[in-house]
Amino acid sequence: MSAVPGPVVLEARGLSAGYGPIPVVKALDLSVRAGEIVTLLGANGAGKTTTLMALAGLLPPSQGEVLLLGRSTRAALHERSRAGLAYVPEQRGIFRNLSTMENLRLGRGDPELALNLMPELRPLIHRRAGLLSGGEQQMLSVARALASRPAVLMCDELSLGLAPLIVHRLLQAIQAAAGQGVGVLLVEQHVRAALQVAHRAYVLRRGTLVISGSASEVRARLDEVESSYLSSATEASA
Ligand SMILES: Nc1ncnc2c1ncn2[C@@H]1O[C@H](COP(=O)(O)OP(=O)(O)OP(=O)(O)O)[C@@H](O)[C@H]1O
Ligand SMILES: [Mg+2]
Repeated sequence: MSAVPGPVVLEARGLSAGYGPIPVVKALDLSVRAGEIVTLLGANGAGKTTTLMALAGLLPPSQGEVLLLGRSTRAALHERSRAGLAYVPEQRGIFRNLSTMENLRLGRGDPELALNLMPELRPLIHRRAGLLSGGEQQMLSVARALASRPAVLMCDELSLGLAPLIVHRLLQAIQAAAGQGVGVLLVEQHVRAALQVAHRAYVLRRGTLVISGSASEVRARLDEVESSYLSSATEASA
């Protein structure tokens, strides 16, 4: 897909963050525009989740800053959510002991809108979320996030362990949201699927962004990118 000329809705400038004195991700410069799907790729342990956590306000930056809708922020996640940032973490962030409907009601958006976005959830509204299949749980977390009408959506490993058909369905919903102006940052294991829906891609290696380009540029270099930057073996032995 070609570039989207919307305003920048999420940005990292010289962002470093980690869990102790030594930063895990270093001097990151990245941006996501309204209506744009950006994918962040990297081997296991490269720092993708750490990056999303720092952007979400769950980890304080040791250097640099995060800008949400053009404004520098150091706010906590719940405040960033109120300002328009939706974050679907790797563990999906749903309440397993509550029903599908209760989970939707606890979101910031209208449950009915969420059910319109993912009609597959309608027959499951009374079921405990912990009893839903992995794919259904992920549909629930994405539908709840999108129903809050965010300006920015960040998803961590949306497709982990899910069947291709469900992955396709989730990516379709995300593409539709982007079509309506949501800026999306996707961390994905399914590199090819991610590059198919993304406009741009960043590749993270050992905490540093090493490649940034249009999805088609990165797709054209996929063999090199996969062998040099995306295999865990490379990451561990580098
Ligand atoms: N809570 C934590 N405390 C200390 N170190 C951590 C913590 N979480 C992650 N790390 C370390 O930070 C580095 C980056 O981890 P991160 O989870 O960001 O990688 P990732 O790219 O998301 O990997 P994966 O593809 O496996 O999810 C790793 O070396 C990891 O061991
Ligand atoms: Mg991760």
